[in-house]
Amino acid sequence: MALKEAPLPAPQRTPRPPAPNRPSGMQRKDAWWIQPLLTALVLGGFAIYATWRTFENAHYRFGPYLSPFYSPEIVTGWKVFGWTISPALFILPFPLFFRATCYYYRKAYYRAFFWDPPACGVSEVASRRGYSGEREFPFVLQNLHRYAFYFAVIILGILWWDALLAFDFHGKIGLGVGSLIFLANVVLLSLYTFGCHAWRHLSGGCMNCFSCSGAAKTRHSLWERVTHLNENHALWAWLSLFSVVLTDLYVRGLATGAIHDIRIF
Ligand code: FES
Repeated sequence: MALKEAPLPAPQRTPRPPAPNRPSGMQRKDAWWIQPLLTALVLGGFAIYATWRTFENAHYRFGPYLSPFYSPEIVTGWKVFGWTISPALFILPFPLFFRATCYYYRKAYYRAFFWDPPACGVSEVASRRGYSGEREFPFVLQNLHRYAFYFAVIILGILWWDALLAFDFHGKIGLGVGSLIFLANVVLLSLYTFGCHAWRHLSGGCMNCFSCSGAAKTRHSLWERVTHLNENHALWAWLSLFSVVLTDLYVRGLATGAIHDIRIF
């Protein structure tokens, strides 16, 4: 006698929780907008300040101190419509491009300015139609970050030289508050630059074995140090941004006579 199969029970669906009284796609109740707002204010303020200082073309040197916005000082004397071209125009594009293509800053300003999305768990505002990520101009330029890193290292070397010169007062070693500010600035810039994702890849990427040779072990130990810096990349990104502005403001304050450098010895 053939056995009759029992009918399968109808699939059960887990009941959905009631829809929250928030816009579609929004899953957060906290003040998620504070972070993108602060980012927009700080980065927007920096862009305005850097542009103004570039075109001011004055008050960038005092004694042994040379503003990082104008270093290395390239003076051509070229004039356009009676305006002497600022040396900062030749320098700033390199560190600015390095920051603009930085993996961390990309996340920060995509969220702050494009709201794409503005935070985790918050839906995008703009339509994604036609969105091509970083495969088309202008965002495809983000892929040049590793080349920007090479230029950033050269500029960093020059800024280290400036920081050493900040201890040279008319041929004698001295120490002013400015010397300490210059030193703190290059240290923070180094922590930011050498925590770069591109540098992390260069130091330890494309390897199958970290212990197979002396060179591989050296690369592994370098990679570990870079990884350590990279874990706090966002912190160094912000601190070094503030220190560059503070250093420039300090030199400008001295050059305009608004403040005086305190000599410790
Ligand atoms: S990823 Fe931030 S500087 Fe390279």
